Amino acid sequence: MSNVYKTYHINKIKVINMPKSKYKLREKFLVFGQPDIRGEEINEVIATLKSKWIGAGPRVKIFEEEFAKYVNAKKAIAVNSCTAALDLCLIASGIKPGDEIITTPMTFSATANVICHIGAKPVFVDVDYDTMNISPKNIEKAITKKTKAIIPVHMAGYPCDMDKIMEIAKKHNLIIIEDAAHAVGSIYKGKKIGSLGPLACFSFYPNKNITTIEGGIVTTQDEELAERIRMLSNHGLSHDSWKRFSDKLVEGYDTIEPGFNYRMSDVQAAIGMHHLRRYEKENLKRREEIAKRYDGAFKDLPLETPKMPTGNSRSSRYLYILRLDLNKLNLDRSKFRQEMFSRNIGTGIHYTALHLHTLYKEKYGYKEGDFPVAEDISKRTVSIPLSSALTEDDVNDVINAVIDVCNKFRK
Ligand SMILES: Cc1ncc(COP(=O)(O)O)c(C=O)c1O
Repeated sequence: MSNVYKTYHINKIKVINMPKSKYKLREKFLVFGQPDIRGEEINEVIATLKSKWIGAGPRVKIFEEEFAKYVNAKKAIAVNSCTAALDLCLIASGIKPGDEIITTPMTFSATANVICHIGAKPVFVDVDYDTMNISPKNIEKAITKKTKAIIPVHMAGYPCDMDKIMEIAKKHNLIIIEDAAHAVGSIYKGKKIGSLGPLACFSFYPNKNITTIEGGIVTTQDEELAERIRMLSNHGLSHDSWKRFSDKLVEGYDTIEPGFNYRMSDVQAAIGMHHLRRYEKENLKRREEIAKRYDGAFKDLPLETPKMPTGNSRSSRYLYILRLDLNKLNLDRSKFRQEMFSRNIGTGIHYTALHLHTLYKEKYGYKEGDFPVAEDISKRTVSIPLSSALTEDDVNDVINAVIDVCNKFRK
């Protein structure tokens, strides 16, 4: 706790005595990106453990079928992370060393790391200011003879301009692999993300809208690709491992390709199943309610709040991102986060543009100034807690802390 403020206690509630402010410090630190774990999934995990079938088995199958149905995809293949999902999609799409893959610098490291692993080159292009998504006009400018694929990222759940991206891909014969890590439930022009393109990859990491602790899923409309991805996720074997250990007699198995162990387990699927079943009516609705409260509370502050899709498109509301107006505030992003931290509120950064990370600078020669929009956002972006696990008190505490910091540092 900063010693700028004097603290004292009333009925065990710690209160910060700050001049000209009635600001009240919350007792417990509010962790950024809390998972919403309830009784249904806890009971399902226990039942799974007791069933003695804890690896990839019937619950993974149920989760895959329900997820495919939810996003309106033909097939869904559950794996142990979105990173694994992206990796499998690149391999299954035939990406080779020396190929170029166009993606956004406004993303998590995993999106571009998987491109590096294959020996291909991540070609970053700048983003649109409002949506933080890859800009289609910049994609066209970056296409060369070596370009093989585009990985658009639906940043914070805001769907990318997929009509334009699909048009460009068709014109230049490029594969699209959507990084939909943030986009469970996002809708683009009436269609769920996961149903549009050949391949989409979702994440179920603990801070995501649906969690399986670690986990991911590939959705596709292409049954052949689905088979190949499933086979690659399971050591390149001809049979699913759960079939090998089932009560049905399976006549041996064969290794077809050097695959991976990227499988999801039934214990993980047990959690995901219930999150998915509750998602539309409860968890996503709650995220939307909280985001609306934030929108209302912050509208007069020197901050930009997220722009939302219009018409029949929808964001999954994965993140609530503030952009600090540094011309109107006497602090930088780092100080803002420290001030929030001292008020017991956790925050996140989404993202520091990837081309500014050491790996991408040193390996590919990217440098400051390459992508001005992403760099501007990188310096001013800060994400505040948004989760269906937040109580009304938590939401009030976040709002009060943001207002208090802004008022204290307003120019
Ligand atoms: C945009 C994006 N892509 C990929 C990933 C990787 O997901 P996972 O942690 O499930 O591998 C993340 C993780 O947060 C992400 O934010």
